[in-house]
Amino acid sequence: MALITKAIRGTQDLLPNESYKQQYIEKQMLETAFNFGYKEIRTPVFEHTELFQRGVGDTTDVVQKEMYTFNDKGNRSITLRPEGTAGAVRSFLEHGLYNEPLPQKVCYLTSCYRYEKPQAGRLREFHQFGVECLGAAEPVADAELISLAQNIFDILQINNLHLEINSIGCPQCRQKYYDALKEYFKKYENELCETCRGRMERNPMRILDCKSPVCSGIAKDAPTILDYLCDDCKEHFEAVKGYLDIMEIPYTINPRIVRGLDYYTRTVFEFVSDEIGAQGTVCGGGRYDGLVEELGGSHIPSLGFAMGLERLMLLMEAQGTPFPEEQRPDLFIATMGEVATKKALALANELRYDGASVLYDIAGRSLKAQMKYANKLNAQYSMVLGEDEIVKGKATVKNMDTGDQEEISLEDFSENFMRMSINESMKDLQNTMGDGQGVDLSSLFGGMM
Ligand code: HAM
Repeated sequence: MALITKAIRGTQDLLPNESYKQQYIEKQMLETAFNFGYKEIRTPVFEHTELFQRGVGDTTDVVQKEMYTFNDKGNRSITLRPEGTAGAVRSFLEHGLYNEPLPQKVCYLTSCYRYEKPQAGRLREFHQFGVECLGAAEPVADAELISLAQNIFDILQINNLHLEINSIGCPQCRQKYYDALKEYFKKYENELCETCRGRMERNPMRILDCKSPVCSGIAKDAPTILDYLCDDCKEHFEAVKGYLDIMEIPYTINPRIVRGLDYYTRTVFEFVSDEIGAQGTVCGGGRYDGLVEELGGSHIPSLGFAMGLERLMLLMEAQGTPFPEEQRPDLFIATMGEVATKKALALANELRYDGASVLYDIAGRSLKAQMKYANKLNAQYSMVLGEDEIVKGKATVKNMDTGDQEEISLEDFSENFMRMSINESMKDLQNTMGDGQGVDLSSLFGGMM
């Protein structure tokens, strides 16, 4: 296939007949986050490379191997965001949001870019829904954050996700842990990959996250952080677990979770599925108490998570999760001749202002082809408009599902059309409820009619 008609490896299109599902998912996410006090933030798709080197950490795979980095025409080093947290924190600092009451709770829907080997659930351009809660040190914040992710999965009716949690401590307790890791990995120094050999001194915990099979094999028996937590970190972790128990959110403790980004402290967690292949982590996050300071702000303990929309969609497809039906056009106006086209323009305009979805022919189709097209569009109603109808000032509207027809006046057409469709919906509702119910729905809707 010619290069210009093929998307770049690791990227994918969202096609018109699928996009309503994505819109539904995004709407549920934003609405749920709103119920937890989050407001949307939008940050640029590219930032100074240094932000990610400092924020995400220059010993991580993301920074060392996966970033889309280039020099712009002004010779600045620019990077397409590999994740959303660093940009959100940068914006928080730049705009002095720390002067507002804390915590500041922000959420985002963004595209992210990582040069990874593409496979099912792993793309080079992917999309995240993420939340960041800036300025909340208490363990109840960790539990609330996890419950937000759980709530979203429940609302989307996604089942069988396993929540795995861990604590990776603070810089104090981590020092002792680093020493233990170094001692352990020293024995295998010659077998580790070159990148991990380089990580030994600066950040041995990163070796636990290496994707090379040899390194991950060696890492299996390495000491675990939970044995090295200081009293404060232990207490924090115990409290988080206690709150999760109160909310009846099931979890398992997985001391192997270290996360692929350097900013994490204390609680880290992942929601994992075993139904979508090797890339089963649908959501990941945790606490990052040092990041705001690392990027030049004061000590503002914070936390967040992100979920991958493509992985979520794969999972929903695998589980056959129900989606609401795609919204259909309310009316298709089939036209015969130029006078009818002009009238259709005016009628459609009137209806669209009143919130209806209306289509008419703009492709010069024959009447028969227009009706076929209306069927294909799955329009709820259709109407034929010719000179006769215009002279009479009346047209017949047909319900495409039932075949029922009704003649309505073209004068105040929008109002007439709306009244007719509400009447029909009420009849449907009454039929579904059955005669025995004895509910007079017209009295319920009386005010609207
Ligand atoms: P992350 O674990 O790197 O964390 O990514 C979060 C989620 O994005 C993953 O669980 C996965 O669903 C999705 N994801 C990551 N890489 C890919 C990929 N190549 N293709 C498809 N989906 C992918 C973060 O990005 C952190 N910023 C999360 C966070 C927010 N922590 C605190 N606040």
